[in-house]
Amino acid sequence: MIPPTATLTSYALVMARNVVISGGGTGIGLATAQLFAADGDQVLLLGRRAEVLERAGVPGALTCAADLSRPRAVRGVERFVAAEFGTVDVLIHSAGGAGHLEPEVDSDEPLDVVLHSWTLNFGLNTLTAALLTEALKDRLADPGGRVLFISSIAAFRGSGSVAYAGSKAALHPYAHALARQLGPRGITVNVVAPGYVEDTEFFGGAMDEARRERLVAETSTGRAATPGDVAATLHWLASHAAGHITSQIIQVNGGAERGH
Ligand SMILES: NC(=O)c1ccc[n+]([C@@H]2O[C@H](COP(=O)([O-])OP(=O)(O)OC[C@H]3O[C@@H](n4cnc5c(N)ncnc54)[C@H](OP(=O)(O)O)[C@@H]3O)[C@@H](O)[C@H]2O)c1
Repeated sequence: MIPPTATLTSYALVMARNVVISGGGTGIGLATAQLFAADGDQVLLLGRRAEVLERAGVPGALTCAADLSRPRAVRGVERFVAAEFGTVDVLIHSAGGAGHLEPEVDSDEPLDVVLHSWTLNFGLNTLTAALLTEALKDRLADPGGRVLFISSIAAFRGSGSVAYAGSKAALHPYAHALARQLGPRGITVNVVAPGYVEDTEFFGGAMDEARRERLVAETSTGRAATPGDVAATLHWLASHAAGHITSQIIQVNGGAERGH
């Protein structure tokens, strides 16, 4: 309840939350950061490229460049969070991708290519989320903390790169186990699984018009998702209103997983 003597401004200051967003410099993570920052929340953007984080232009945001698939780098983030935030109210894992912008393996051995693809995707999508969560989970606000992962329609259908799909699917049981573990502290853990989202770096410029049309045609809504569609779902799951929703995987894909 708002104390009768408090102004709305001071109430907003009291309620400002500390929000950590991996992959916060681009795409879905950036749209999400903008949404929380508009609420007056204090946002920390994480990603490997410092210049991308600095250019993101999220009002008042802190930035910390780190490769979150590396334990030592994640420990560095943990120290940064301890010094700047102390407590984390909302932890959002948007770091990831299918590796379209990553270096390719140089080998004639097909199994080397398989090894590279699975290792790369596991690092990008599973380890980034697991390492950062494990490093920060004791700092989550209790009660009221929120952990949010981003999976993919690929985890349900095995579409696209199967290594990518598998590395996203691995987040589902992790989220369920964490929800059980953190529930007694009043913390919820959920997963948002988007379909095709436009205006991100995900496809690395590799999206041709025919593929785009095919992906849009799979939806019942007749359109691609925007980063804002996914951000709004994350924002709602982080709200007080969603306090009894935990261990869920929410699909944001315009019905594409069901098909026509
Ligand atoms: N776009 C889609 O259609 C779609 C669909 C389903 C799911 N998703 C998922 O949505 C999430 C956000 O992707 P997006 O679409 O917004 O694409 P994006 O613009 O490429 O965002 C991915 C972000 O992750 C960061 N990142 C990647 N590896 C990292 C690492 N090892 N350590 C720290 N940061 C790392 C990237 O920054 P740096 O390169 O600077 O590190 C980038 O900012 C991803 O998990 C993706 O798999 C996307």
